[in-house]
Amino acid sequence: MSAFPVRHLAIVGATGAVGRECCAILDQRGFHADRVTLLASQRSAGAVINVGGADRTVEVLQPADFEGVDIAIFSAGAETSRRFAPIAVQAGAIVIDNSSAFRMDPTVPLVIPEINPGDLDGQRGIIAVPNCSAIIMLMAIAPIHGRFPIKRIVVSTYQSASGAGARAMHELIEQTRQHLNGESIRPVVFPHPIVFNLFCHNTVIGPDGYNGEERKMIDETRKILHAPDLSISPTCVRVPVLRAHSESINLEFDRAVAPDAVRELLCRAPGVRVVDDRVNNRFPMPIDATGRDDVLVGRIRQDASRPDGRGIDLFVSGDQLRKGAALNAVQIAEHIATGIRPRVSVAQ
Ligand code: A2P
Repeated sequence: MSAFPVRHLAIVGATGAVGRECCAILDQRGFHADRVTLLASQRSAGAVINVGGADRTVEVLQPADFEGVDIAIFSAGAETSRRFAPIAVQAGAIVIDNSSAFRMDPTVPLVIPEINPGDLDGQRGIIAVPNCSAIIMLMAIAPIHGRFPIKRIVVSTYQSASGAGARAMHELIEQTRQHLNGESIRPVVFPHPIVFNLFCHNTVIGPDGYNGEERKMIDETRKILHAPDLSISPTCVRVPVLRAHSESINLEFDRAVAPDAVRELLCRAPGVRVVDDRVNNRFPMPIDATGRDDVLVGRIRQDASRPDGRGIDLFVSGDQLRKGAALNAVQIAEHIATGIRPRVSVAQ
């Protein structure tokens, strides 16, 4: 991939939870663009967000906005991406899409830069950012899979409100206040009360009984690892955590794998931090993962149900808004902008 000067960057959905995080991360990482355009719906017209040291006014998204744009980062939901991403590509932009709209399109690379950067070479204008739960799981398991091929994954998620956007985060805070004041609770964004509760992920349940989030974890993991036959059984659950998803992961291998070998691989893995303090019972927690770039991995242990040593258990926490969405998108933009061929992937 050759260098690509970014003169004009557009952020679609700039006022949302992921869009705002994108703006902050661009600044924190010193990403340079001569011009930045912030776009959202009519509701946010005129809002002001500071990016690159300058206050910028949010504009209402229109098809003409993409003229002259080099990179457009979309975080405004699948419907907006389906409608506007092709218009942006037609106008000459490269689209980095945080929605689910194009992820399983075989012509669209689905990329985690630490894992399958080589897939960027095949881009034809749209690059998809994977589902947040898939990213957080894959950051922990891809380094292991590169050395000890995984045969089967059983994963349960503990997903925060942030995955459903800024309004859902507000709903959790508001319901907490209502609950503590003895007021009645009427869910709006979520289908059930989120405070002091948990429930099956709020996506459509398919005929096989898996919800939409679980289906994404299965399909996207196979695509990213280039492993179409990998066995995966997820259970995705929404929990009353503000941001940062956690996951309990059980891995099955063809041969015995020692927890120490897994720990060593994870200690060296980019974007991963091992938190595995058995003495003090301190392991990955969403409160520690919040605001951090690294995915925290711990509770690394042999699966006690497999005396043959072919099972490993892990627990992970990762900031859903950062590595699970905005940071991954900005990292892709950096690869495009610099043309630097990233580190050789463990999954290639
Ligand atoms: P707005 O703030 O004007 O509603 P979140 O995921 O946190 O809910 O954020 C969604 C983001 O996508 C927001 O910036 C929101 O803008 C934006 N958005 C939602 N629908 C549209 C639309 N039809 N056109 C443009 N932006 C949209």
